This record gives sequence, C-alpha cells and structure tokens, in this order.
Amino acid sequence: MDWGLSNRINRIFNKETGRTVMLAVDHGYFLGPISGLEVPSKTVTPLIEYADSLMLTRGILRTSVKPDNNIPIVLRVSGGTSILDEDLSNEGITTSIKEAVRLNASAVALSIFVGASNEKETLLNLAKLVDEAEEYGIAVLAVTAVGKNMVRDARYFGLACRIAAEIGAHIVKTYYCEEFEKVIESCPVPIVIAGGKKLPEEEAFKLAYNAIQKGAKGVDMGRNIFQSEYPVAAMKTIKAIVHKGIGLEEACALFNKLKK
Ligand code: 5RP
Repeated sequence: MDWGLSNRINRIFNKETGRTVMLAVDHGYFLGPISGLEVPSKTVTPLIEYADSLMLTRGILRTSVKPDNNIPIVLRVSGGTSILDEDLSNEGITTSIKEAVRLNASAVALSIFVGASNEKETLLNLAKLVDEAEEYGIAVLAVTAVGKNMVRDARYFGLACRIAAEIGAHIVKTYYCEEFEKVIESCPVPIVIAGGKKLPEEEAFKLAYNAIQKGAKGVDMGRNIFQSEYPVAAMKTIKAIVHKGIGLEEACALFNKLKK
C-alpha cells in the first residue's frame, strides 16, 4: 500500500489499540438540521477533542470546524437526495477528490445501497471513488446504507460489507446485528459500526461493547452521542469502551460519574 494512503488510514485509527471513535456529524447532507445538530459548531466544538476522527461534509467542515484542528477528517462525498425523496438510494458523488485533497481529508465516505433500486449506480460510484481517491493516497470508507424494507441481519450486512471491500473500500461502516462475527469474518477490511437512532445510553453502550467484542475496529457514531443529554459524558464513555474495553457495568458507572 502506498505510504500516503497507509499514513492516512493510520491517522484514523488509534496507534495503541488499532481502533477508532469516529464522530459522525454528516447527517444534515440529507436530513437537514436534525435534533442535536441544528448548529453544527455548537455540537462539534465540545466533542472534537475526544474524537479520533470526524465524519462530515465539506460545508460543515468549512464553516464549523477551525482549521487549526489536527483531527483526521472523513469527508462525506455522496448525496443528492433528501429525506423528502421516495428513494434515498439515488445518490451521486457530491465532492471531487481535488476538493478532498484541498480539505486535507484522510478519507472520503460514500453510501452504497445494496438491494435498493440504485444498487448498481451506488456500487459504480464506489468503484470510481476508489480509483480516484487512490491516485491521491486518500482512503475510502463505504457506508452500507439500509433501505426501510431491508432485513438487518448478518446475511444482508455480510453481503453489503463484502461487496464494498471487493470493490476496494479501505474501511466499511455498517450496523451491528445478531451473529455480527460472521459479518466481521467475511470482510477483509476494518469495520466500524454506526450507532443508528438514539437509544437509551445503556443500550448504546451495549451496542458499542458487543460490536468491539465481536471484532469491530471502532464506531462511527453520531446521534447516540450528540443527542444524549450529556454528549461529552457519552463520548468519553464510548471512548473507554472502544479503547479500554471496559464492560457494560463499568461503562454505566463511568457515564453516571461523568454526568455529574
Ligand atoms: C448518515 C451516516 C451517519 O454518519 C451514520 O448513520 C452514523 O451516525 P449514527 O450513529 O447517528 O447512525 O452515515 O447516513
């Protein structure tokens, strides 16, 4: 692997643990100003120092993150739909590789919609992105997006993650599910998990803990952190689960202590 690409991937993952806590704040690219992300700078500023990497669009990076930050950037470069669309799979590439270079992105992120009407286009978008990003030594994170009617099981996520890796993604983001170890074992590149909709904190901690125990290389989490009443405490607790491997009981005790 070329030095620049390898260096950028290594920046995303913590050197000691080989894992990452990626803070996802890219939701506005199709959801608009969702709860907790109405003013992105207010959300990001108190959390950024605890994140290993930050996933967001160029618009929010330029306006809401100070350039003196050294945090590795995972730049969301797919979009073109909104929550008002019937078919969210109709995404294209919204940001060029040259722009990703200008923004000093460590990785670019794009959603694939396996099993959806635009499956082929999104997979070809991924292939094109990998070809272009690799020319500049930039990593590609594929997001396995799920349609409303799709079964969220190991067979489906295993299929989507493996296809993403086969096309050349360097990191894959997916969702935790039963028999998650099967998804991990059949995907030859690191997997990070999304948190999904806001859960009670204890459940979010359990999700992160189980995913790490089963082999995930970290989390790419948003709503379960920034929609918490105590986002910094939630972030620090997730970090301890990912990097220190603390169990659920310890995580809850830590969160309760940090809340105060
Ligand atoms: C949106 C995304 C989000 O980054 C991803 O879903 C992670 O955020 P959350 O933990 O809130 O699910 O890719 O499409």
